[in-house]
Amino acid sequence: MSSQPKSDSAPRTAHARTRDALGRPLHDLRISLLDQCNFRCPYCMPEDEFHADYEFLRKQQRLTYDEILRVARVATRLGVSKIRLTGGEPLLDKNLAELVAGLAELPGVDDLALTTNGMLLAPLADQLAGAGLHRVTISLDSLDETVFKRMSGGRGDMKKVLAGIDAAEAAGLSPIKINVVVQRGVNDHTVLDLLDHFRGSEHVVRLIEFMDVGNRNGWRMDQVVPSRDLLEQVVQRWPLRRVDKNYPGEVARRYKYVDGQGEIGFISSVTEPFCGGCSRARLSADGVLYTCLFASQGTDLRESLRNDADEDELTDILSRIWLQRADRYSELRSPELAEAHMQRKVEMYRIGG
Ligand code: GTP
Ligand code: 5AD
Ligand code: SF4
Ligand code: SF4
Repeated sequence: MSSQPKSDSAPRTAHARTRDALGRPLHDLRISLLDQCNFRCPYCMPEDEFHADYEFLRKQQRLTYDEILRVARVATRLGVSKIRLTGGEPLLDKNLAELVAGLAELPGVDDLALTTNGMLLAPLADQLAGAGLHRVTISLDSLDETVFKRMSGGRGDMKKVLAGIDAAEAAGLSPIKINVVVQRGVNDHTVLDLLDHFRGSEHVVRLIEFMDVGNRNGWRMDQVVPSRDLLEQVVQRWPLRRVDKNYPGEVARRYKYVDGQGEIGFISSVTEPFCGGCSRARLSADGVLYTCLFASQGTDLRESLRNDADEDELTDILSRIWLQRADRYSELRSPELAEAHMQRKVEMYRIGG
């Protein structure tokens, strides 16, 4: 089992060097398993819109495990060596371990990870590790009970999330990363306490700039705390030194505490976009392949999958999509672009970040 993503694995087929229109290889496949979530984070699924009557995808609209595995296998032929399972909340999928086992067996997958809110993780961690999951990333926006409650839309139970982190550690699902979306005036005053809590552990806290993903979170630039401001606050308390990326295209900028108490990261898509190294494709639960987190449209693969497209046909479809790709939303971000994409972007809970 790999505990750390290995850098660029050797190409395995003639397709493995597929690069997009801007010369970027395909390295990560992010697979959203379902669009439902047990949280209602206001920046992702605000409660007033995602109420009891909201219609999520029905089971028959979602890809089956077999269909997901077919796409994933083809993606590995094109160079993907890292797969991340997301949601909504992927742990709401009751048979997840079965899919994990299938993905873990795919040749060329050397990093198999999952992003979760952690609430349901404690009882599942051992089973997932046994099935072949390498590591987990847990979203945890604050350790202040009131702030955490608010940021999970009133649904989160912090004790359960912390128990999930401990269980993941015990199961060897490491390195464990803790994702913190920082919103000015909401949780920015609790960031140092959260860092303090995890200092000295092996867990890597990543501070994420609040992004204008989707159409429903009422994003405003003045709610973004630029990473450089946070970095300044952190180094005033604990000196840091920069460290190299784990793999080309990694989104986080990594730092270690000079006193040896661990590692933190900054994900700064708004103030320091990283589109130049973006090697991620995203598959939604209903089988649409998106080539950017901020895309307005993707390519429906479900129809081809259900019309029995074979591996070569699927490889051609994916390869064509990737060759044409020229996305760089964050680099181009402007009020005009935001306006043009208004109400048209894919929602975060449909592609899992
Ligand atoms: P590692 O595999 O551990 O490097 O994690 P990851 O950063 O690939 O995945 P994770 O699900 O933890 O995402 C962390 C944050 O980065 C989330 O807020 C994502 O939405 C954001 N993110 C991931 N990929 C991209 C990307 O391609 N573009 C932008 N703008 N944000 C991204
Ligand atoms: N901006 C930044 N990060 C976000 N996430 C969800 N919505 C946003 C947003 N608007 C994070 C989640 C999760 C990861 C996949 O994306 O907290 O950790
Ligand atoms: Fe759920 Fe994650 Fe969206 Fe929060 S950010 S509502 S935990 S999918
Ligand atoms: Fe990749 Fe789009 Fe994010 Fe840029 S904005 S890094 S192209 S997903």
